Amino acid sequence: MSRIIEAFDFSGRAALVTGGTRGIGKAIVAALAELGATVYFCGTNSELGAATAAELAGRPGKTAFLPADISSFTQSRELVETILEREGQLDFLVNNAGITRDNIMLRMKEEEWDAVLNVNLKGSFNCTRAAVKSMVRRRYGRLLFLSSVVGLMGNAGQANYAASKAGLIGFSKSMAKELATRNINSNVIAPGYIKTEMTADIDDRAREALLGMIPSQRLGTVEDIANAVVFLLSPLADYITGQVLQVNGGLLMS
Ligand SMILES: NC(=O)c1ccc[n+]([C@@H]2O[C@H](COP(=O)([O-])OP(=O)(O)OC[C@H]3O[C@@H](n4cnc5c(N)ncnc54)[C@H](OP(=O)(O)O)[C@@H]3O)[C@@H](O)[C@H]2O)c1
Repeated sequence: MSRIIEAFDFSGRAALVTGGTRGIGKAIVAALAELGATVYFCGTNSELGAATAAELAGRPGKTAFLPADISSFTQSRELVETILEREGQLDFLVNNAGITRDNIMLRMKEEEWDAVLNVNLKGSFNCTRAAVKSMVRRRYGRLLFLSSVVGLMGNAGQANYAASKAGLIGFSKSMAKELATRNINSNVIAPGYIKTEMTADIDDRAREALLGMIPSQRLGTVEDIANAVVFLLSPLADYITGQVLQVNGGLLMS
């Protein structure tokens, strides 16, 4: 078999995708499972998690839902421990779960700031902290963080979200420097505007304005992001660490 095709055989790999119950996370779970990985995913809504698990069970690959709130240090640790008990290893951690609580700074409540930072930034710390020990021991691991174009260029009304997403970039680069000698890579994917529940509220006028700024003239699909995840987790990306891969149809080029 060709080296390139073999690189996309993920059998024998165990993965955790946080926030895999819908949207981008769900597409990542499906893609990794299709390539042979055993994929665990979490979310806070157990009903949705069970429904997504039932849906994915009808597709190729092995997937399992574990309810967990990643803003909790303890729940994140227990989540990773459960996977390690069941699989004996965790190869891929995709820190995908994220929320928005938009408001302009004049009106932003402390709770809105805290909620976003606690899930998007601290949640990624919680899961990474829980996962790296076993990765270091095995001298293998791939960390991925879902940031956003907003983390790179800012956005009025999203100071909390932009700060959390910019924070993930510094976090990931630090992981890349700390862990490269242990064969653990850490990278960021910064999506542009992707069609999911998170962007469903954008009104028609704003959507038109947005499309005018995107050279590709379309919003991204969840598969556009899953494709980038697959590449960065594959051995084809073994020499790529500490990077930010922008997947945004050309909205931002830097
Ligand atoms: N959509 C976009 O245009 C876009 C652009 C740039 C970046 N991103 C980033 O990409 C990631 C996925 O976005 P998306 O559009 O797919 O979002 P989404 O459709 O809103 O899905 C978010 C996922 O995160 C989970 N989640 C939320 N809070 C959680 C918590 N405390 N603990 C565990 N899971 C939690 C949700 O499940 P529960 O609700 O059940 O907890 C859900 O599975 C996010 O980090 C987002 O910021 C998205």
